[in-house]
Amino acid sequence: MTKKKTFKRFLVTSALPYANGPIHIGHLAGAYLPADIYVRYRRLKGDDVKFICGSDEHGVPITIRARQEGISPQELVDRYHSLNKKTFEDIGISFDIYHRTSDPLHHKTAQEFFLRLYEQGILEERETEQYYDPEAKMFLADRYIVGTCPKCGYEKAYGDQCEKCGTALSPDELINPKSAITGSTPIKKKSKHWFFPLNKYEDWLRKWILEEHAKDWKPNVVGQCRSWLDQGLKPRAVTRDLDWGVPVPLPDAKGKVLYVWFEAPIGYISATKALAQQEGFDWRDYWQDQETAIIHFIGKDNIVFHCIIFPAMLKAHGDFSPPENVPANEFMNLEGDKISTSRNWAIWVHEYLQDFPNEQDLLRYVLTRNMPELKDSEFTWRDFQTKVNTELVGNLGNFIHRALTLIHRYFNSEVPYNPRDFVYDWISESKKSVEESIETFRFRDALWTVMELAQKGNQLLSEEEPWRVIKNEPEKAGQTLSDAIQIVAALNILMQPFLPFTAEKLKQILNINSLSWDILSQKPLIPKGHKANKPKQLFRKITDEEVERQIKKLKGDMQTQEQKQQGQQPESKPLIDYEDFSKLDLRVAKVISAEKHPNADRLLVLKISLGTEERTIVAGIAQHYSPEELVGKNIVVVANLKPRKLRGIESQGMLLAAHDSGKVILLTTDKDASPGAPVS
Ligand code: 2FM
Ligand code: ZN
Repeated sequence: MTKKKTFKRFLVTSALPYANGPIHIGHLAGAYLPADIYVRYRRLKGDDVKFICGSDEHGVPITIRARQEGISPQELVDRYHSLNKKTFEDIGISFDIYHRTSDPLHHKTAQEFFLRLYEQGILEERETEQYYDPEAKMFLADRYIVGTCPKCGYEKAYGDQCEKCGTALSPDELINPKSAITGSTPIKKKSKHWFFPLNKYEDWLRKWILEEHAKDWKPNVVGQCRSWLDQGLKPRAVTRDLDWGVPVPLPDAKGKVLYVWFEAPIGYISATKALAQQEGFDWRDYWQDQETAIIHFIGKDNIVFHCIIFPAMLKAHGDFSPPENVPANEFMNLEGDKISTSRNWAIWVHEYLQDFPNEQDLLRYVLTRNMPELKDSEFTWRDFQTKVNTELVGNLGNFIHRALTLIHRYFNSEVPYNPRDFVYDWISESKKSVEESIETFRFRDALWTVMELAQKGNQLLSEEEPWRVIKNEPEKAGQTLSDAIQIVAALNILMQPFLPFTAEKLKQILNINSLSWDILSQKPLIPKGHKANKPKQLFRKITDEEVERQIKKLKGDMQTQEQKQQGQQPESKPLIDYEDFSKLDLRVAKVISAEKHPNADRLLVLKISLGTEERTIVAGIAQHYSPEELVGKNIVVVANLKPRKLRGIESQGMLLAAHDSGKVILLTTDKDASPGAPVS
């Protein structure tokens, strides 16, 4: 058996999320929750660990999104940086720092890294010919060129792949290529770039990954690396023509920035430097010392960057150690479908926190139970309910509550005896098993071990029935409850990495000062005579109604998104002239009557008054408004929309409504306004 390596320090990173959208449960289960569990465990053990993350704020998608919204890229990333930072804090991801790549310290760090490679003569300079959008005045990444697929004729194939037939393409192969940004025909333009010769590191990578780490890295990670290495590595451009990013620090590189995947991983180093400045330590100890284990938590789409490209860059630089492990997870699906930001098929973590305030641990629990450690996994709201109700409430919560209520009732919360020996055996077995699992990144197994200990506790109570025994043999009942409270204390420590909010509540109830891992080996964990506080329930059941509401919300969100994709309401639209806006004839209208559509459950048929005329409007609001509550309301309608038939009834206009997370809210006037009054 190989000897377990020991380390003096741990530097743990989670993938820097792009600051152009919120965090969803797939992100959490992939790269943030496992890292947080790992880090919390290390902290409880007293290890020296730094937990690093931050926003990835550069790259083409950010510039395009900002352009669509008519704001600057900086404004866009500021918005999501704040939202995501807060979301992580609120769900209990305990980063030591949440930095950002638009920070000047990062720009400087990334530029110095580039220059070091440049000055050592490692980078190759090449002139390339690329597609350029003359209207947007920018070079186009392959993804932003669309055209007809030469294989299947699909007209919306991307410059790197046809999504219809799956063929990998290059932009040159597209028939009739167009810029996805402006729709104009791109031209070819020459540009100079710097390439990192990844091929030169192939032998080193092969040895390092496939020999040295074949056993201690996860099989899904080694497998993906092997496939990349077997395909052969090529030099990769590390610069781009773009005006948003880290400028290339060379005199002849105006209008060029470092490629986002070159500088983003350097963001881990910049963030460590920023933390070092705050806390007063030497950042080099965490990046340039053999006794530090660097561990990158990521999702599977990031494997090549963290296992092949970034380590090769570090090797080329010369001063840095490569990571000790890269425990990448696979993906989590949602209700039978891939999570998709663009289709809004996601559970956004900040929305979960609003819908389930102070119930962070319920989500943390279910995501860990279903973590996609070795293969893709699935989240469904029904499963969420089952796991919370049967496992958290029915097993863990039930045991802790029974033990604490009984000791409170019969012994005024004072621990009557020291435990029997078998209790120490149970605790030490659980401790060992949790340690082994966490240290090998098997978080599902680790959590299950904790739940098994709670199950044993439940069995102990059921078998020894202290509530019955207390009448005739109070000592015996006292012994059972003393054993049980030791198990509760052990659970309190063991659960902390997974359920930190619950662990904190339980710690208050148990009235103990510390949850240090060492206490698990203490005999007893809680001494005889210790007095706990009055117990409270730790979890509650999730109702059918809550589940239904969430499913409806998800599907509702999806529906609005589908409508958006049909062109009725795109997510964000390009700027328009006032002239375009003024083509709309918006009017105040009074609802005279409303009734259900005879042929469609979703539709209502409204009679409205525009002052001088009456009209019929068919609207898809039946799930949100009853006909009665609409009568007499002042609403806003588009009066000059061409009439169209909806399930057999002609709609002579359209009413305006806000679509908010599955809810539909009608626009009304702030004060009374005459029917027919124009709206502008
Ligand atoms: O895939 C992503 O979301 C990237 N923003 C991850 C970057 S990780 C690191 F390299 F910065
Ligand atoms: Zn095709």
